[in-house]
Amino acid sequence: MIMSRKSEIIAVGNQKGGVGKTSNTVHLAAALGELGKTSLIVDLDGNCGATRGLGVGTDWLGTFELLLGDQEPSDVIVTTDPVEGTDLPKNVELIPARRNLEEFEHEYRRRNKFSDPTNTLSGPLRSLDGRYDFIFLDTAPNASAPTIASYKTADWFILSTEASKLSVDGLNDALTDILAVREAGNPGLRLLGVIMCKVDSRTRMATVYTEKIRKEFEAAGELGAFETLINRATALEAAQSHGKTLFQTEPAHKVTEQYRKLAREVLSRLEAAKAPLADSKLKEAASA
Ligand SMILES: Nc1ncnc2c1ncn2[C@@H]1O[C@H](COP(=O)(O)OP(=O)(O)OP(=O)(O)O)[C@@H](O)[C@H]1O
Ligand SMILES: [Mg+2]
Repeated sequence: MIMSRKSEIIAVGNQKGGVGKTSNTVHLAAALGELGKTSLIVDLDGNCGATRGLGVGTDWLGTFELLLGDQEPSDVIVTTDPVEGTDLPKNVELIPARRNLEEFEHEYRRRNKFSDPTNTLSGPLRSLDGRYDFIFLDTAPNASAPTIASYKTADWFILSTEASKLSVDGLNDALTDILAVREAGNPGLRLLGVIMCKVDSRTRMATVYTEKIRKEFEAAGELGAFETLINRATALEAAQSHGKTLFQTEPAHKVTEQYRKLAREVLSRLEAAKAPLADSKLKEAASA
């Protein structure tokens, strides 16, 4: 893989379960892959959603060994390989999870009495810096050590939510988590946006929710929901259950197209977020 500039590390999260974190992670990475951007997805959930969703078996070495420091990142990366029977979307690679990830914290504390199991991800990922355009951290719906490690390591956070009142109301808790992480050692963590998914195309409620999020998040000084909504589609569930993304099974599907639009929106938000930085760097250089 070609060496590029710094990899953007993006955690996709929400401590609420079943709100599209994994589906959004794998489809966003696949959409970026079509645009020629390379992604590594790190599965940080002992339920192995991303691992299964990408059709990779749950018997590979992966995040458990990575976080314990037993394996180097490059030794646990799964790529498309006809011999191994793996077929990932274009430009997407994976560090898989196994069920044993749930025992990580216990094992870590058994081996290291005085160090913090949530400080175990940034080091290994730093060694991959520049190898991918994006490193996506697919987190679990709980505050386990791998989830907290992800929040502490990411440059960016994408919140995933279903288009339901309950989920949207719960976003304030998610925002509180992000603020807490900034206080607890990752001051640079920035919210890139909220993905509204599983939208029922027969109602206009998602638009109402999107507007509510925009207002509330703007008032908190944060970026709100992405303009692109992701519809509910049985084709997506079907693809996932076969270990594939819609990009592989239904490249012309409406939801596949929505993920393409979302990927373009993600890229433009990243560019816009970095523009003031670039400006100030240029000014610094000019006045030096
Ligand atoms: N746009 C969609 N249309 C239809 N089904 C979807 C869509 N997005 C996700 N799903 C389905 O909803 C379920 C939950 O999605 P997903 O696993 O992505 O959520 P999650 O937040 O990662 O869950 P967990 O908290 O358990 O990790 C899955 O069965 C998935 O296939
Ligand atoms: Mg998941």
